[in-house]
Amino acid sequence: METLKEIVNPLLKWYDGHARVLPWREEPTPYRVWVSEIMLQQTRVEAVKPYFERFLRELPSIRDLANAPEARLMKLWEGLGYYNRVRNMQKAAKELLKEHGGEMPSDYDRIRELPGIGSYTAGAIASIAFGIPRPAVDGNVLRVLSRVQKSYEDIMKQSVRRKMEEQIQAVIPKERAGDFNQSLIELGAIVCVPNGEPKCGECPLKELCKAHGDNVELELPKKTPPKKRRIERRTVLVLLSDNKAALKKRPPKGLLAGLYELPNLDGQYDSEKVLEYVKGLGLSPIRIQPLPEAKHIFSHIEWHMAGFAVKIEEPDQEPEGFFFVEKAQMEETYSIPAAFSAYTEYFKHCF
Ligand code: ADE
Repeated sequence: METLKEIVNPLLKWYDGHARVLPWREEPTPYRVWVSEIMLQQTRVEAVKPYFERFLRELPSIRDLANAPEARLMKLWEGLGYYNRVRNMQKAAKELLKEHGGEMPSDYDRIRELPGIGSYTAGAIASIAFGIPRPAVDGNVLRVLSRVQKSYEDIMKQSVRRKMEEQIQAVIPKERAGDFNQSLIELGAIVCVPNGEPKCGECPLKELCKAHGDNVELELPKKTPPKKRRIERRTVLVLLSDNKAALKKRPPKGLLAGLYELPNLDGQYDSEKVLEYVKGLGLSPIRIQPLPEAKHIFSHIEWHMAGFAVKIEEPDQEPEGFFFVEKAQMEETYSIPAAFSAYTEYFKHCF
């Protein structure tokens, strides 16, 4: 395939008949496109919908996002993971408020400079919200392009991604830039799917697709496997006093920075060691009960967790850095990352 020109019309025609109706497509303002694209980087479309609706209801403008209290923001993001993404969005919103009256500029380069916005997100906002003909090449698009062209180049390489962006840039239709980008993303999401057999029978590009022609679509795209995740063993404690459980605030830097957590220890402790630790905090344990093991996968680390519920006498004084909250407070006020959910669920159901 000399250029990708041939894919443009069949894709647009297909998109007109097959695009899913999605909340951010109904009214593609720059802010709505931005929020949806950041959420979609980490979560499936179906799961994003309710988060998107709630986020837009509570923070309907860039100004509202800029001014949102940190705890509120974390709560709105709870369950989506990668909290730095929403922190960066807020940083960007503050810049936009200061420098652009709270509006997203209709300028690709300026959008690209904002915190947390890479070439994909900048291209998506520029093309979908402003009609600016810039590519938006995500994993879906890399897969479609690898297959259509039967390219065995490694899509984890920046140079390969850049090349595919240039190929799109060369053919993107000026009058329908946003639809064209979305048609590629959509095709990758619902036809040229990542897991399992692609639905080549339904594909508007089946006659053009070189991988399909040679029956090698399942071999593509080529990706170097990601680095192995480091495994960390941790011991998580549900310290129960009366009808409250202990929380701590995580340090301002690093993994899950600034969020709340159940007290937890590096390494695998048994009941005896846990009791020693609890006494060392100046608390008086009454009873200890092991909880089921749990696992949480981050991008670079896996937590393999053991858990214990420890009933303690009501403390005269909370140990430094610890504070005790009731179930309702835990649900409404504190964002506790999903990594702890096996154990926060236990607390929520133990009364
Ligand atoms: N995945 C990433 N961006 C998307 C979009 N705009 N529509 C549907 N799925 C997507």
